[in-house]
Amino acid sequence: MNSHRAVSPPEPQSLFLRASLGLEVEQTPIWLMRQAGRYLPEYREVRKKAGDFLSLCKNPDLAAQVTLQPVERFGLDAAILFSDILVVPEAMGMVLQFLEGEGPHFSKPLTRLSDLDRLNLPDPEVQLDYVLATIRAIRRQLPAHIPLIGFSGSPWTLATYMVEGGSSKKFTQIKTALYNDPVFLEGLLERLVTAVVHYLNAQIAHGVDAVQIFDTWGGVLGPEEYRRFSLEPMARIVAGLNRQRPDGSRVPVIVFSKGCGGYLETIATSGCDVIGLDWTTPLAQARSRLGPGFALQGNLDPAILYASPQRIRSEVRRLLEAFGKQNGHIFNLGHGMEPNIDPNKVPVLVEAVREESRRIRAR
Ligand code: CP3
Repeated sequence: MNSHRAVSPPEPQSLFLRASLGLEVEQTPIWLMRQAGRYLPEYREVRKKAGDFLSLCKNPDLAAQVTLQPVERFGLDAAILFSDILVVPEAMGMVLQFLEGEGPHFSKPLTRLSDLDRLNLPDPEVQLDYVLATIRAIRRQLPAHIPLIGFSGSPWTLATYMVEGGSSKKFTQIKTALYNDPVFLEGLLERLVTAVVHYLNAQIAHGVDAVQIFDTWGGVLGPEEYRRFSLEPMARIVAGLNRQRPDGSRVPVIVFSKGCGGYLETIATSGCDVIGLDWTTPLAQARSRLGPGFALQGNLDPAILYASPQRIRSEVRRLLEAFGKQNGHIFNLGHGMEPNIDPNKVPVLVEAVREESRRIRAR
């Protein structure tokens, strides 16, 4: 026996954490992006009580309550912190509003290098204390065997909102900056990397079990630009995270770059444990391109929830059959739940994932 062998870290018990690390599971774990939200009547009720979306994010008791709603209603395998990616730019000093029916709005978008002087580096314990209080409140109420996923936006995705002033279709302002003033854009991304490292490390310190980086707009970039302006900053974040808990267990990192199925080999260089896929890349193809070293998360089209229960079941079966018995899969949709879906479709999806994945594994 090798007496120098390091003591191996404890193996996680939850399906989600086991699958994140590529370990054997008896059934495929499932959670859903935007699992808490407007499609749930109980969410709309609590949101009304809070007044508006941002006030809900800033009320730890109510934010914890809506985090738990879908986990309790559907028995999902993980909870995701209820918050928003845009609280980070707000904490850096930008003025954020969510306009009814229009989405997020920043009143003074960043346009040039000197605008970066308006940004400060937030101390998460101060400017984002309400998020950390929400994490503690969730942890007190969430059953110990259900992991809590923390998150942040990617620097590129956050920068699109900060430069465009809100949601965008063509990304004209930020792409103009990218080609004409890369020093400005890189300066902004650099500040976001630092802010996000501090923020995610604070989330980990306050009790999240895994973190996801949402790179919703990575897919608007060409391959070279994706590498430089989206992937590189995310890789610097991943390198800066405290991924080891005091007991030696690992905090898995999920990178979800939407629309980036063509860039999987680049994403694999980020240092992440799990790669999130939208619905345009077949799961088995992603596995053969990446090998077994990465867990995969996804990836049915969220619009599947508009289909009949029979069709939902057959699509789940098709996806799981194509992937087969391999380890390292977390079921999710390829993007967030839409506000107008029927919540009664969700149990159909959850049961189908459990039944089909058990059946395939038992063969
Ligand atoms: O997944 C979850 O259940 C956790 C909560 C969560 C929200 N936003 C709540 C939310 C998470 C992880 C996010 C991330 C987020 N926020 C992203 C990345 C993921 C993605 O969806 O692409 C982005 C781009 C944002 C920015 C954002 N927030 C936009 C563009 C909007 C408006 C669009 C919309 O759907 O209305 C939001 C608002 C928002 N964030 C809502 C929720 C539940 C709807 C707010 C409401 O109740 O009116």
